[in-house]
Amino acid sequence: MDQNKAPLLEALADYHRLDRYGFTPPGHRQGRGADPRTLEIMGSDPFRDDVLSTAGVDDRKSSGEFLSKAEELMAEAVGADKAFFSTCGSSLSVKASILAVTKGSGDLLIGRDAHKSVVAGIILSGLQPRWIRPLWDRDLHIAHPPSPEEVEKMWQRYPDAAAALITSPTPYGTCADIEKIAEICHSRGKPLIIDEAWGAHLPFHDRLPTWAMDAGADICVVSVHKMGMGFEQGSIYHLQGNLVDPVRLSQCADLLSTTSANVMIYAAIDGWRRQMVQEGQSLLEKALHLADSVRTDIDAMDGLHVLGPELIRAEASHDFDPLHVLIDVAELGISGYQAIDWLRANCRIDLGLNDHRRIEATLSQSDDDQTTERLLTGLQELIEAAPEMPKPPKVQLPEPEDLEMETVLLPRDAFFGPVENVPAEEAVGRIAAEQITPYPPGVPAILPGERINAAVVDYLRTGATAGMVLPDPADPTVKTIRVVAHQRDQ
Ligand SMILES: Cc1ncc(COP(=O)(O)O)c(C=O)c1O
Repeated sequence: MDQNKAPLLEALADYHRLDRYGFTPPGHRQGRGADPRTLEIMGSDPFRDDVLSTAGVDDRKSSGEFLSKAEELMAEAVGADKAFFSTCGSSLSVKASILAVTKGSGDLLIGRDAHKSVVAGIILSGLQPRWIRPLWDRDLHIAHPPSPEEVEKMWQRYPDAAAALITSPTPYGTCADIEKIAEICHSRGKPLIIDEAWGAHLPFHDRLPTWAMDAGADICVVSVHKMGMGFEQGSIYHLQGNLVDPVRLSQCADLLSTTSANVMIYAAIDGWRRQMVQEGQSLLEKALHLADSVRTDIDAMDGLHVLGPELIRAEASHDFDPLHVLIDVAELGISGYQAIDWLRANCRIDLGLNDHRRIEATLSQSDDDQTTERLLTGLQELIEAAPEMPKPPKVQLPEPEDLEMETVLLPRDAFFGPVENVPAEEAVGRIAAEQITPYPPGVPAILPGERINAAVVDYLRTGATAGMVLPDPADPTVKTIRVVAHQRDQ
């Protein structure tokens, strides 16, 4: 195929060139009717390109096949059999993948460090999760992806499970040994799904961790907006091999998707794929080079430590994406929450992942010396300001064993059945009816169906006091927790 083509972008250009006009949604008619005060801030360009996909960019029968051609080009570019674009983030793509590998019931093996969207897929599907233990790092208090040995153990215990699902890279940039895990799954004729939301760029540079399709995964989900050059919500799920029916997969996505997909999201994915094929290696080379020097510079700063080699060990992760610049701020005597808030308030810099002792900057091909200079200057100012900051409240960190609470009820039944809100201390011993997720990174500490223990409640309550954000429980302060009502909790 001609990878110099970008069918969706070209069709959008034609739409404008031919001066098409639709008496259809979107009602703003390419911005004609939009409020001038809105246009003043947003500009007219986003409205101009917000056109219908079918009966807009393409005709009502999609006879131009622009979307399917763009998807074929994507699949070819990364060596997948098929690629499907989605405008609802990896959050939709992982749910569709979960539904597609099951028959609506049964067991699924899942790394317990899964994102909350995976848990949402479990709640919706009614599946029984069989949690694969991640490699808990007792010193760093982070979860590394599960080892192949743990996956093998789980297959021995649950040989009838439908598939295995692993997150790699994690939001910390740490990666699983996907090749070995895929071999283990395939030796049983079972598919492996990789939630590679953080890995859209991996196929395009050989110094980056192995891309899941090259490592033999059957389905691989990526967020183009995270490490690629797509708009927010742009995601692709890739498929290869014959263990998953492509029709079922796309029909499962159809069950969950919007019928009004945003063409701009699709077109940006199309353009990014062409850019990656033509220039990915050199753009990512530049980004990796920049990351190397930024990591060295930050690590040399007083009181800051950039995590690197300690993340890759026999008992840690298999590989690591250096574009995740994970910085330990504990020596400054402040928490990651304080550091993030201070950088936003004083330097107008936002960082993503943060926890009781770390902050993370993700670098991309968009960064250069100028943008990273802002980061370095901000961090230097943070170091100078830290002694004046209040001592952070202590977060009671649970032991790894405490985080592995027993699942005693199907997550769907716990979530949808009768519930009650009880004071947090009374929730100990009860079955959770909601998920409670420190965000970021978005890995739930409590899941519906799990029997709650005191250590995790203490962790969340002290975390919330220290600045941890918990977006999903009914009470984000965790003074109360939603549990399964007593009449069912016997
Ligand atoms: C591991 C992982 N999976 C899935 C998602 C969901 O991705 P999206 O925001 O594209 O819906 C995220 C988002 O942070 C994530 O970190």
